Amino acid sequence: MGSGLVLDLPLSGQFNWIVCHSVEHMKTNIASKIPDNQSHLLSFWDELSGEQQERLAAQIEQVDFDLIARLHSSDEKAEDWNDLAARAKTPSAIRLSGAGNKYSPDEATAAGEKALREGKVGVIVVAGGQGSRLGFPHPKGMYKIGPISDRTLFEIHADRMIAASQRYGATIPLYLMTSPATHEETVEYFAANSNCGLKDLQIFCQGTMPAVDAATGKLLLAEKDQLFLSPDGHGGTLAALENSGSLADMKSKGIEWLFYFQVDNPLVEIADPELIGYHILSGSEMTSQVIAKTDPAEKVGVVVSVDDVTRIIEYSDLPDEHAARTLDDGSLALWAGSIAVHVFDVAFLDAAKSQAAALPFHNASKKVPYIDDEGNRVEPAEPNATKFERFIFDLLPSAKNGLVVEVAESEGFAPLKNAPGAPKDTVESVKAAMVALHRGWAKAAGLNIADDAMIEINPRFAMDADELKSKLAGADSVESGKYFS
Ligand code: UD1
Repeated sequence: MGSGLVLDLPLSGQFNWIVCHSVEHMKTNIASKIPDNQSHLLSFWDELSGEQQERLAAQIEQVDFDLIARLHSSDEKAEDWNDLAARAKTPSAIRLSGAGNKYSPDEATAAGEKALREGKVGVIVVAGGQGSRLGFPHPKGMYKIGPISDRTLFEIHADRMIAASQRYGATIPLYLMTSPATHEETVEYFAANSNCGLKDLQIFCQGTMPAVDAATGKLLLAEKDQLFLSPDGHGGTLAALENSGSLADMKSKGIEWLFYFQVDNPLVEIADPELIGYHILSGSEMTSQVIAKTDPAEKVGVVVSVDDVTRIIEYSDLPDEHAARTLDDGSLALWAGSIAVHVFDVAFLDAAKSQAAALPFHNASKKVPYIDDEGNRVEPAEPNATKFERFIFDLLPSAKNGLVVEVAESEGFAPLKNAPGAPKDTVESVKAAMVALHRGWAKAAGLNIADDAMIEINPRFAMDADELKSKLAGADSVESGKYFS
């Protein structure tokens, strides 16, 4: 009997039998994919509507239960960070002091500008984080941080992209990675704002990982019909670039180098030709930009050398005693604070994506609300769960000629992380850093400006002190409150 005939009889018992049969079939089918210790995932199955059942089944289908079991088991626990940190040494780096640098800033800038003019550079921004510390219930990129302009982080980055594209006469594509938590709003935001003027923008969503109960390794339910899923870390960039077709897009456009940054840093010098130039001249596959840490407690990962391999130890994994270790001159041994700005060879990313083990997972202990076996919502007071994330910077050890380049914090790093009142990385501190940088440019341009004057410069007006100087030739002072746009 053809299915068409059955569907012609929608109210018949036969149709109902087929529906019931397929629902039973779905349950049997999905149950067969779940290991015994995870059978609680179907505890509420019979209470769910067909749509809810389908949703839950689809989420379960995506889970690699073997992987989760391995990640949770003790034999696949993360590195021994204490041991690693004890062996970590100061990495070799291109320092601001210039000592020992193989290439001059001018040589590097020329090489980077050439690549930009030839249209061989793309930019990626990761914006999948939920920004919970900031307490802003939207994608962080939508936060209005411009001290005078009130521009959002997204607008500030877009303005810089547009300015750089104009300066080098080649459209630089922007690949913007979201997560399920930020995707829809980000897409709507750019659609409502004419893509912030960007000519080549691709927004794509990263994957997720389930969270498990820390004691038992059981997956947690966020709702009776939903697993608790969270973004798989910015290491998810590798798979997401591939799955979204962005990597293929880069290759088709002849993009050879990818400039990577995090959405929370409005000071980042996007597509910095000097950084790109060092990367190219050194034949590096991955380059990381760093600041010199002065406070051992500063919450930045550190780039270190372990057994002559350059790698990054995340701040949360770095024991205090090693963070505070000093050299003979009193400076921090592990000084190279990662600001999460990297340059990648596209070919390196392309090769890395197919090596599943290229990026390890990191376990994080978190408070995760969940539905218990009786169907009650539990809001834990203490961390109860383990989340699994991959970090893109774990590619550094496998990169040929991995390179570390220092930038002055005042010129490249002011991340927006925390709600007002925190000691660091707040709205106030970020705005102050932006104003201080721009005031410095005005001074360098020979303008009279009060030490407490508030000014802001849109990169489309001037991307640096030199450009400001040429634009303002003839002017001799600037008033507080001026926004150069
Ligand atoms: C991060 C870095 C840290 C670095 C610091 C600089 C990690 C693990 N650590 O710390 O080494 O010194 O920034 O500011 O990244 N994101 C995603 N998807 C995810 C998770 C995060 O896109 O699944 C994005 C966020 O949107 C954000 C960035 O990654 O742009 C950093 O995430 P966040 O959680 O803020 O990391 P930090 O602890 O600040």
